[in-house]
Amino acid sequence: MAEDRKEPASPAASDLTAWKRLARLAAQPQPLKSADLLADSTRGEALRIRTDGLLFDFSRQKVSLEVLGALLDLAEQRRWRRRAQALFGGGMVNNTERRAALHTALRSPPEQQLAAVGEQVAETRRRLLDFAESVRRGRRRGFSGRAFTQLVHIGIGGSHLGPELVTTALGAANPPIKTTYVANIDGSAIKAALAEANPERTLFIVASKSFSTLETQANAAAARSWFLERTNRPDALAAHFVAVTANADAAVRSGLRKENVFPMWDWVGGRFSLWSSVGLPIAVHLGTDAFNDLLAGAQGMDRHFQEAPGAANAPLLAALLDIWNGNFLGAGNLVILPYDHRLRLLPAHLQQLITESNGKRRRRNGAKVDVHTAPIVWGGEGTLSQHAIHQLLHQGTRSFSADFILVGQADHELDEQHRWLLANGLAQGQAMALGWRSDDAHRSAPGNHGLNTFVLDRLDAKRLGALLAFFEHRVFCQGLVWDINSFDQWGVEFGKGLARRLFNQLGDDGVALEEDASTRVLVAHLQALNRKADDDPSSE
Ligand code: F6P
Repeated sequence: MAEDRKEPASPAASDLTAWKRLARLAAQPQPLKSADLLADSTRGEALRIRTDGLLFDFSRQKVSLEVLGALLDLAEQRRWRRRAQALFGGGMVNNTERRAALHTALRSPPEQQLAAVGEQVAETRRRLLDFAESVRRGRRRGFSGRAFTQLVHIGIGGSHLGPELVTTALGAANPPIKTTYVANIDGSAIKAALAEANPERTLFIVASKSFSTLETQANAAAARSWFLERTNRPDALAAHFVAVTANADAAVRSGLRKENVFPMWDWVGGRFSLWSSVGLPIAVHLGTDAFNDLLAGAQGMDRHFQEAPGAANAPLLAALLDIWNGNFLGAGNLVILPYDHRLRLLPAHLQQLITESNGKRRRRNGAKVDVHTAPIVWGGEGTLSQHAIHQLLHQGTRSFSADFILVGQADHELDEQHRWLLANGLAQGQAMALGWRSDDAHRSAPGNHGLNTFVLDRLDAKRLGALLAFFEHRVFCQGLVWDINSFDQWGVEFGKGLARRLFNQLGDDGVALEEDASTRVLVAHLQALNRKADDDPSSE
């Protein structure tokens, strides 16, 4: 892979002249108001970008064309185009792990594929799709010769969120193979997944890039025990368990056959990996055409990101607006509001993608950041969110920006209900932008919140792939402006070791002297509860 040329030392964000200009624009005595901006009909067309089947409308953002120009200068001063070329070219963009971040290579068109990885990507994808089709067509069967009807996917974080989002969004009501995702270490998750499963007809995928994540290892062990207790067939494990990992040796040591291991690579980050072998449940559940369409949609967005000029580059502009909202307008949180039941898992996937990528406090060179980085990301499915969080959004005291995601065409015949869904999505965005007045102070709302509206003309694999790739490039552009590494996640490594010590303490009756006072009391309390449950099960 191309070694990253020594990056010229980048100035701190707040030292950039464009940053200083944006600060001046944000501090103007007459701050920009959505109502004024939206009254200007000439402004809108410059704030909408259409790509294949996706409209990105940012006209409800509190941004003037002058501010937009300064934001684009900011991107130029961070050499965004050159940094994007390094990303696609296999540069060492993940500098703290000295790795490339080549999720784009997983969906590159052959003529653009990188020689260093092209062959293994193509070969692995071929294996993956062959396997998925053989399961779907019943050529690959369980140990008793019966076709698979249930897929239990075991993985967490980037090894589960993307695939579960995609199979939930695009899955049929009664699929030939029912797919269940198990992620939490909480035993109730794997128990629920296996409660109705038939061991003869259940296929397990154990997805873990490291093959050392506690939750996944524990759930995989529980699944193996469940299978052996019901079949007493150790020789049958190979027919029912496959793995997706960058650590094939560990997978084989755990008892899996090498031919049942689908590789991942360290140059693909977990939260960017659904395009890789991590996407196996997508291909099994939806079929190879859907998986290829997903890749094609992402590839189309990659092309847009690589070719569109800054002022027409949707992911870049979305990132710059995040900077404007978060760093200059004080909106420290981003609310994701998919107005489509099929996209109900989108907020969870984007939470990991955005906050695990850019929830950082150190610049690439190790210096402390001088500005805020990733926003808090949350949200909910519209219209459910209107009965849960919109009160705060309309009349609370917090600043926020929002992403509304609408889908033009329904996949059902209840047209009036779909029209109501869209009307609510539009209305809520309009109200968050413009607010409303009443003589009764309790009944008015200020509005004036900046927000994006995404409209997919319909929800299919291609358009979903494009949307997810959009957010990947948006995250990359945020990170390059803040001058942080969007591709490592040292903050979550520490926690994994911390739990191990407390696990041991909870397992015995000793007093956790080395722990802080609060933890000691909590450990003792939980130990007492466990003793009580052991002494008197009926007390549960
Ligand atoms: O959340 C931390 C993390 O390392 C994620 O980056 C990753 O997607 C997840 O845990 C699971 O890791 P693995 O795929 O190695 O089991």
